Amino acid sequence: MADFFITTAIDYVNGSPHIGHAYEKILTDVIARFHRLTGDSVHFLTGTDEHGQKVQQTARARGVTPLEFADSISAEFRAMLPRLEISNDDFIRTTEERHKRVVREILQRLYDKGDIYKGEYRGFYSLRQEQFLQEKDRSADGTWPEIFGEVSEIVEPNYFFRLRAYQGWLLDFLAANERFVFPHFRQKQVLEFLKEPLNDLCISRPRERLEWGIPLPFDDAFVTYVWFDALVNYYSAVADKPGVWPAALHVIGKDILVPPHAVYWPIMLHAAGLALPKGLLVHGWWLTSGEKMSKSSGNASNPLDIVDEFGADALRYFLIREMNVGQDGDFSRELFLTRYNGDLANDLGNLVNRALNMTNRFAGGLVPGPGAEHGPERELREAWGALAGDYVALFRQFQFHAALERLFAFIRSINAYVERRAPWKLGKSPEPADRALLASSLFTIAEALRLCAAALRPVMPASSERIAAVLGCAPAGTWAEELVWGGRLEGSRVATALVLFPKPAVERAP
Ligand code: MSP
Repeated sequence: MADFFITTAIDYVNGSPHIGHAYEKILTDVIARFHRLTGDSVHFLTGTDEHGQKVQQTARARGVTPLEFADSISAEFRAMLPRLEISNDDFIRTTEERHKRVVREILQRLYDKGDIYKGEYRGFYSLRQEQFLQEKDRSADGTWPEIFGEVSEIVEPNYFFRLRAYQGWLLDFLAANERFVFPHFRQKQVLEFLKEPLNDLCISRPRERLEWGIPLPFDDAFVTYVWFDALVNYYSAVADKPGVWPAALHVIGKDILVPPHAVYWPIMLHAAGLALPKGLLVHGWWLTSGEKMSKSSGNASNPLDIVDEFGADALRYFLIREMNVGQDGDFSRELFLTRYNGDLANDLGNLVNRALNMTNRFAGGLVPGPGAEHGPERELREAWGALAGDYVALFRQFQFHAALERLFAFIRSINAYVERRAPWKLGKSPEPADRALLASSLFTIAEALRLCAAALRPVMPASSERIAAVLGCAPAGTWAEELVWGGRLEGSRVATALVLFPKPAVERAP
């Protein structure tokens, strides 16, 4: 059983992971962790997409089998997950038996129903690249670029899926489920695409040309081609786990929404008599200097370099704080360092250390009780009260960047409160009123920080835990319990120091 089944796209194994791949896993992980904090039982799936022409060709060029090649790249993607603190429950590879079996079952079911038929595929074929080309591959003057070598129009037998027969059904489904795709403007893009009649989908390639695929169960001279294989991973991974399907959310990039996830996938499921996912979350791209980060453009940054240098939480924070889900975002080391130094090292990291330091110096390392509340204490508590509800609502609406913006504004107001109360001055005064104020200010700072740590848990799980630990508490509950201002820290013993986000060595201009 799972209340919330969430997936990422499965990555092609034709190159090493870059920031774009890491982002999708982190975004999905933030949502998975958030749902666990609301008390849902979550099932989180990710994996690799391993068949196809490119893998076959690259493996051949390297003198290894396609499976050996896929094994090595898939292992790289898999090894990245714990380094990014991804809390996935499962990892599926399309070369696994459990996947191939379900793909073949679904193909057979659709074939038996008459939704798959044999026809003629006509297209422009590049012998050099061993692939069919598309209109978008042509140069502006209509010729085929040099890299394709000789291109000829060929016709070959293949199997087709009756997509067109379901176009009306899909339109009705989207009209009845207006919020199927987030952000909403992307649903409009799907409707725009559906204004033209759909072509039936070619789902096979002859085995003599493409060995590296799943053989069709009703004709093993052919293998499935691309989407019929890849999309089914979401279902094949849980087909034998009762109560998990359908997915609550598929998290994908904007390049694979139309037509694969918004047209092929719903129609495939409906035709096969399976329930539809509840929604698609479509994120934008990470760009470098205005261009999509990708292996082929040679502008890809390795997420693990950043993790080695600054830790997973810093990368997670940057990617989630900087990207408005659905839009594109710019990635650069400079932008990363600005957030790291400003938000993390200065605003949050210093505050934690100041809180520990003052509690040790002025209260023997034990958090005092709340004491009497005055104007500044009340203001901070009320600011938290106003933030907490909005914060959870922003998470529900996938507005993580806005939630973090509000949270860090609150962190800055804790810093302003520290300056205003100046406990180091109160600590020098023997006056009972000042001693009382000192105690309640130390409590207020510690409690405000505890709440920030709880709020940061889905985004920066390790730092959140470390902050809670140095304050002497272990966050165990749901957000409904943890995000409430209260007195539980009274009497907690705090640690002496915590270096959360060490300042990097000064960057020299190149
Ligand atoms: N294998 C297919 C997906 C099959 S899902 C049933 C695929 N693989 S991919 O490796 O090319 O991309 C995997 C995911 O990473 C996609 O959701 C894609 O949008 C995302 N990203 C790849 N480059 C990206 C950026 N530069 N920025 C953000 N995400 C992008 O497509």
